[in-house]
Parts: sequence; C-alpha cells; structure tokens
Amino acid sequence: MTVARPAAVVVLAAGEGTRMRSATPKVLHRLGGRTMLGHVIAAARALDPEHLVVVVGHAREQVTAHLAELDPAARAVVQEQQNGTGHAVRVAIETLEHLQGTVVVVPGDAPLLTAETLQALVDGHQQAAASTTLLTAHLADPTGYGRVVRDGAARVTAVVEHKDADEQTRRIAEVATSVYAFDAGPLREALGRLSTDNAQGEEYLTDVVGLHTSAGLSVGAHVATDAAETSGVNDRAQLADAARVLRDRVVRRHLLAGVAVLDPQTTWIDADVVLEPDCTIRPGTQLHGHTVVRRGAEVGPDTTLADCEVGEGAKVVRTHAQGAVIGARATVGPFTYLRPGTVLGAGAKAGAYVEIKASTVGEDSKVPHLAYVGDATIGARSNIGAGTIVVNYDGRDKHRTEIGDDVRIGSNNSLVAPVTVHDGAYTAAGSGITQDVPPGALGVGRAQQRNIEGWVARKRGPRSNGEQHE
Ligand code: UD1
Ligand code: CA
Repeated sequence: MTVARPAAVVVLAAGEGTRMRSATPKVLHRLGGRTMLGHVIAAARALDPEHLVVVVGHAREQVTAHLAELDPAARAVVQEQQNGTGHAVRVAIETLEHLQGTVVVVPGDAPLLTAETLQALVDGHQQAAASTTLLTAHLADPTGYGRVVRDGAARVTAVVEHKDADEQTRRIAEVATSVYAFDAGPLREALGRLSTDNAQGEEYLTDVVGLHTSAGLSVGAHVATDAAETSGVNDRAQLADAARVLRDRVVRRHLLAGVAVLDPQTTWIDADVVLEPDCTIRPGTQLHGHTVVRRGAEVGPDTTLADCEVGEGAKVVRTHAQGAVIGARATVGPFTYLRPGTVLGAGAKAGAYVEIKASTVGEDSKVPHLAYVGDATIGARSNIGAGTIVVNYDGRDKHRTEIGDDVRIGSNNSLVAPVTVHDGAYTAAGSGITQDVPPGALGVGRAQQRNIEGWVARKRGPRSNGEQHE
C-alpha cells in the first residue's frame, strides 16, 4: 500500500505554559536557533500535509505573527478558552470541512520530534488502516504523563491521565506522547462525544482512544525508538535539557558529514547552519542563524558567528561577528568584532582589537591591529595602520570613506569621512585626513614637530634638594 500525504497536521499551541515563568509564550522559547514552534513546524511540514493548522490561544497575537514568518502557508485557529487537548483538536477540525484521510496531531512543546518519527507513525497508521495510532514511549519516570493501557493481547484499550490513574495504572511505564495519527471521520465523530468528567474538567484528546476501542475500531500504537525525542518541554530546566539533546544531535550530524568538531560539549550549532566537510570548529564556538562555513575553514576557539559566511580555508579566532562575509583564506582575530555589512575579500585580514562595520576590505588588504573601520570601502592590497579610526559619524549623519588599491594608511590616523584616499597613496602616521589624497601622493595631516631646548628646566626650576634637573 502506498502511503498518502496527511490531509492535515494539527499543532497544539494554545496553552499558557505557566511553568516557564516567562512573559514569552511557551512555544516561542528558543533552542538550537529556532523557537519550539519552529522545530515542530519544520517536522510537520516535512510530511507535506494538505493543511497545516496551529491551534493558538494564549498570547495568540505573538504566536500568530511568529507563525506567519515561519510558514506563511500554515493557518492559525483560535481556541478562545483552553478546555483541553480534545477541545483544541475539535476547534481545529471544525474549520476543516469535508476533511478525509489522515490527521496528525503534534503538541507545540515537543521540539525534539523528528520528521522521520512522524513519517513512521503515519506509515504504520495507514498500513494498518487504523482509526487511531498513537505514538508512545517507555519512560523510566512516567510521572505526570497519560498511561497507555493494553489488554491481555497487548492491544491498546485506553489512555489514562496521571491525575485520573489509580496506583496500578501509575505503575505503567508506557506513556502517551500527545502525538497521534487519526482517520478524519472517526476522529470527528469521537471529538463530538468527549466528556469533561475527569480530574481536570477538560476535554481530553486521549479519550478518543477509549471511545474508538469501545466502538470496535482499530487502535494502534507506534512505540518511539528514542523516548527522549518525544519529551515535552514544560519548564526552563526541560528546555535546557532539550537544547542539549538538540546540540548533540546537530553536532553528530556534522561530525558524520566530515566536519571536525573538536569539543562537542562546548560547541553550539543552530539547526540551519551549513558546514562543509573538512572545516574545523574549535572549542567554545557558537554558530547561529544561517551561518555557512566552507571547506577547510577553521573557526574558534571561543568564537560566536551569527548569519556569517566563512570562505574556504579562512581562519577565525576568538571573534564575535554578525552578518559578516569572510572571504577565502582571510584571517580574523583574535579579539575581533565584525558587525553587519562587513565583507572581507579573499586573503584579507582583520586582526586583534579591530572593529569593522558596513565596510568592504578588498582582496589581500589588511587591518591588522587596534582599528575601527565603519562605512568604508577599501580596495585590494591596502594596509590600514595600527590605531586608525574611520571617523564616519559627524554627530548627525554617517558618511562613507573610500580607500583605493595599494594604499598605505599610516598608524594612528583619523580618516574623517566623507573622504577618499586614491590608489597607491600613502598617509603619514598620526594624520587627521580631512581632504582627499590623490593617487600616489603622501597625505600629511598633522602639525610639524618642533623641539624646545631647555624647556623642562626653565619650567620647573631647581629640585627641592637644590640641584638642577638633568
Ligand atoms: C498531554 C496528554 C498526556 C500526555 C502528555 C505528553 C492529554 C489530556 N494529555 O498532557 O496524555 O502524556 O501530553 O506530553 O492530552 N493545549 C491546547 N489547548 C488546550 C490544552 C492544551 O492547545 O486546551 C496544548 C498545549 O499548549 C500543549 C499541548 O496541548 O502544547 C499539550 O497540553 P498540556 O497541558 O501540556 O498536556 P499534558 O498535561 O502535558
Ligand atoms: Ca505538556
């Protein structure tokens, strides 16, 4: 039997998440470079459902706005009052008339769920032609979870919530994960018959299992091979645990793809980062957002890159960078700060205690020490002397500085923008450059030194012991 794409995936994200103790709604907390909802949507989208629906309630404006950025084709459905997981799915299903086929339900607080596990659940559900298939897991400590009750023939008969379970049921280690595949027709029918006669006074989605088995419909269970994958995040301790699991998973994926991650424990790589084989990531490194590191590049130790591109064979040491493009064989660091719009050409250098913003440093050009370069364009093979500052801001507006090819800016210059230093020009050390320097010229922007002989003695008079200063 061929497996059909699900008719719908319903993501449950209306709950408040009180235990996070946060002004941020639970599903918008982040790990591995995405929100929890972002991870769940990515896994759900991989199933290629006809409809992707997210049930929102608490902080719905924030969650809906985020969803629109994540996945414009997904639809938010409002659950005005959080009357339980069954009620949430009922609200979603009521917006999907004439729905037929498989409906997958996932909780918005299970960021470790993989597309592979969801697909295996759907495959098993469709092959068994079941009305309900629930994803279950065996937990060492099942406290708090709904327990999966099976009969003598190991068929699932019901799910009993922890709060409603007796001692014997609480000893069951197999739990419901809040992930399901349903057949749309029988689901809709059962949702209309849920009661609130339970410990929490809510419509439990888990009760669909009991309703279906007592109606003689076939209910199956798919046991998760990795229980950790199904764990829900309810507080910040669980969020930190999940982030660690995700980190290990992402690092392992890169290791197996040929990336040298020297210290997985201290390396944090966001889910969407791209690393080419044979690049090296040293200890204490964080790679965020859409960062790309090309073949043979070395990053770290102790480097944080967000939305950066690191070219082939480049070396980036002890650096903090955001929105920077670092060319092939370029060298950066240590103690370097690259801000958005920085573009370092092939073989360029940004050395120690250098800050660069919205500037291009051309091929093989160098900004080796103690400098600020902002809103500037530097050509090829130029050198910026130590201690040089581009004065790009007049207190009201920002201005650009142009530096040509083969230029030598002396040490400790102030380049007062707007200003251009043309190809092949030099500037003297200690200059304040306020006028353009023509090609091949030397710009000198400082007072001539003069020495005043005997000045110290005249100024200060004899020492207290009567002697003259040397
Ligand atoms: C639920 C299951 C439990 C399972 C556990 C797995 C029920 C009744 N219980 O319990 O069997 O072991 O998940 O983690 O289903 N939500 C809504 N609207 C509501 C209520 C909840 O959208 O009215 C959403 C929440 O935001 C959350 C998800 O549904 O994303 C699960 O709700 P939660 O309250 O966390 O259920 P659990 O008590 O964890
Ligand atoms: Ca939960």
